[in-house]
Amino acid sequence: MYIQTIVAAIAALSATGLAQKCPIVIEGRTPKGSTPATFDTTASLFDSKNVKGANLTFAQIIKLPNVTASLFDANSTLPTEITLSDASIFAPSATNIQTGFRRCELIPASNDGSDPSTLGVKVIHFSVMKDEARNLNTSHEYQMVFLESKDFSTNQIVVKTGTISGLNNSLPGDITIVGNVNTAVGKLFSTEFTSGWHNFGIVMDFDKNTTQILHSLGSAPLAAVTQPISNDISGQGQYHFGLLKKPTGDNLKDVTKEGFQEAGIDEGVVYGGVFIEEGGAGCVSLSP
Ligand SMILES: *[C@@H]1O[C@H](CO)[C@@H](O)[C@H](O)[C@H]1NC(C)=O
Ligand SMILES: *[C@@H]1O[C@H](CO)[C@@H](O)[C@H](O)[C@H]1NC(C)=O
Ligand SMILES: *[C@@H]1O[C@H](CO)[C@@H](O)[C@H](O)[C@H]1NC(C)=O
Ligand SMILES: *[C@@H]1O[C@H](CO)[C@@H](O)[C@H](O)[C@H]1NC(C)=O
Ligand SMILES: *[C@@H]1O[C@H](CO)[C@@H](O)[C@H](O)[C@H]1NC(C)=O
Ligand SMILES: *[C@@H]1O[C@H](CO)[C@@H](O)[C@H](O)[C@H]1NC(C)=O
Repeated sequence: MYIQTIVAAIAALSATGLAQKCPIVIEGRTPKGSTPATFDTTASLFDSKNVKGANLTFAQIIKLPNVTASLFDANSTLPTEITLSDASIFAPSATNIQTGFRRCELIPASNDGSDPSTLGVKVIHFSVMKDEARNLNTSHEYQMVFLESKDFSTNQIVVKTGTISGLNNSLPGDITIVGNVNTAVGKLFSTEFTSGWHNFGIVMDFDKNTTQILHSLGSAPLAAVTQPISNDISGQGQYHFGLLKKPTGDNLKDVTKEGFQEAGIDEGVVYGGVFIEEGGAGCVSLSP
């Protein structure tokens, strides 16, 4: 029954969307000609001030590695690496310094938390690839992509890797997508975080409170790997594309400020093909 539903979902997707044709709500693919310093200017497609270490510029954080383009970077847009170092300490204010985390995430410039990118039906597209020269430490939990609600009370979907607190059915070496972290929905999908590009589409139906995952490897077109799953994605908010490394340690009361982070961090993940498309009427791009 479950398999039949997935097969039906795949058939429906194939019928409604192949090449990219759905309207783009948010464009996050790094234009050819960009440099890491572009991310510190208003020419950036993302917030040029957040989220990053208080003493760092994006020019110091971002790398544009010469790697094979991801599936949806077919138009010469640039794979974009987010790196973490010991200085990746975000300070939302002078008195709120998040010493528990190491983080850097890109938030789309138009995504103020109340904008239409979190209404109706939207498809979040992105690809991620390991940088074998800047491996993550899978003893820690990492968020790689997430939607944080407008009131900052929850994350409605989170793409994670590493040792995930509170989840007993994921492996540290997996990419694991979880639903609303304030609910019992838990894991929606996982796959081993192998080398090369992992391409994702996450169909967010804000009218129905469902999330469906599409995935592929390398240059293969996206395919549905789940059916639409009930998940509370209400509360609008902001999409984050980048790394949020959590501390280790038991019984932490405030993970933003407590716990352990080793010194000498040099870690990174390469992102590609970031955009959000209008998914109304079943529109989903499975390939560029
Ligand atoms: C920024 O740099 C100053 C001067 O070195 C240091 O005192 C401060 O702790 C740093 N802040 C953060 C958040 O890393
Ligand atoms: C990027 O890599 C390709 C293939 O390895 C190589 O031909 C090209 O010269 C490289 N470009 C730069 C700017 O390093
Ligand atoms: C990985 O993280 C664990 C837990 O914080 C730490 O004990 C270990 O030293 C780290 N490994 C590396 C290579 O940094
Ligand atoms: C995982 O956690 C759930 C919820 O607490 C529990 O029902 C289940 O038995 C646990 N599974 C394992 C393998 O520990
Ligand atoms: C989604 O679920 C939440 C929690 O139950 C609810 O408050 C919200 O109204 C739901 N949204 C829709 C569109 O049904
Ligand atoms: C590629 O760029 C051209 C010219 O800007 C544009 O018309 C086309 O829609 C783009 N294709 C994709 C797949 O982004």
